This record gives sequence, structure tokens and C-alpha cells, in this order.
Amino acid sequence: MNHAPVEIAPSILAADFARLGEEIRAVESGGARMLHVDVMDGHFVPNISIGVPVVASLHKATSLLLDVHLMIAEPERYVEAFAEAGAGMISVHQEATPHLNRALSMIREAGAEAGAVINPATPVAALSEVLSICDHVLVMSVNPGFGGQKFIPGACEKIRQLKELRARYNHAYRIEVDGGVDSGNAADLARAGADILVAGTAVFHSGDAAAAVRRLRQSAVEAFAQKV
Ligand code: DX5
Ligand code: ZN
Repeated sequence: MNHAPVEIAPSILAADFARLGEEIRAVESGGARMLHVDVMDGHFVPNISIGVPVVASLHKATSLLLDVHLMIAEPERYVEAFAEAGAGMISVHQEATPHLNRALSMIREAGAEAGAVINPATPVAALSEVLSICDHVLVMSVNPGFGGQKFIPGACEKIRQLKELRARYNHAYRIEVDGGVDSGNAADLARAGADILVAGTAVFHSGDAAAAVRRLRQSAVEAFAQKV
């Protein structure tokens, strides 16, 4: 797949839901090519957000790649519905299902890119048996459930490990990081090996979402270019 060096995925959790269309136009004009959509069930995480109908509406309203992050128990019950609604990428938590291999396979069969997610307390090693069937791996840099939390630095080491494993075993996944990402850590994350930076608060609470996307992308891409 021909992907850009580092992508910014604005997380709509921090957007104004009453003005979602406008918020999306803003990040599009800032050069975003994907949109991160946080789905929470009030069970796997202590918060409730949005579900399948919103993804279907987003799919009609934008051509941005919809990156759907399922923070729900038993995600395999819903992957087909989200894929059908227009999710281009679907991520499921290692901690949310004893059937991670099945969940990832179902995502691919449904025609979306499949990703496994690990919480801050979960080591990269927990994914060793599924890395070969991941199109992306999402490293949580906050405990999932809420936007606006402080970045947990252990994520950088996990990104480095994933990058090393990808090279060693010739895997093809992209490395994504989510939680507390801002212009202060974007360059470090890109240098560590992150391919996709999810950012909610740093984009939608900045006063100028388009400029925030451009700024994050620029610092990440510059850091990527400087990497040895
Ligand atoms: C947290 C979500 C994140 C969140 C990121 O559970 O998965 O995607 O929206 O928000 P910020 O960038 O504000 O930490
Ligand atoms: Zn997320």
C-alpha cells in the first residue's frame, strides 16, 4: 500500500458534535487524509460515545479514510456492521476479546484494514501471534475512555519495539499512536517510528483545526525525514 510517511488522524471525540460537518471540512483543508472515530460502549471503557449510524453518516459526508477505534467488549460482534457503514480501518483491543485472531480476520474479510490495539499496561509481546495479520497496530498512550489526557511516555518504547519487529519479521503493519499527542511530542513519536498520529484535543481545541493538523504533520514529517 502506498502510504505517506506520517499521517495525522484527527480524533472527532474532541470535535463539536453539533458542528461535525464543519469540523471535518476544517481538518480536510488542513491536509488530513483520515479521521479517527472513537467508539465506546460504557463497559470496556467508562464512557459512551458514538456507534454505527454516525460512521454511516460520516462516510456520506467525507471521503476521508475512517479509522474506527472500537473500545467495546466482544468487538467481533460489530466489525461487519462498522465495515458496512464505511469504516476503512477498524481497530480492536487485545484486552477486549479472547478471540483477537478471529476479530482481525473478520475485519479483513469485511474489506477493511485490520488493527490490534494495546492499552498502556499491555506489552507488545501480547500481540506476537497476530502481528502477521495486522494492517496496523495501535499503541495507546493514555488509558482509553476520554480525550484530553496526559501522554504516557512508555508508548515510545513500544513503537520502537514494533518497528524493530516489523523489520525483523518482514511485517507490513503501520504503527499508530493514540492519546495525548500534541506538537510537543509529535516529532519524538515520528522519530520512534509512528506512522499515524491520532490527535483530538490538539486539533479540535486549538482554535484553528486546519492549522493544527498542518503543524502536527509538519513537525512529524520533518522528524521522519531527519531519522537515520
Ligand atoms: C481515547 C481515545 C482517543 C482520544 C484522543 O480513549 O481513543 O482517540 O480521542 O484524544 P486526545 O488527543 O485529546 O488525547
Ligand atoms: Zn482512539
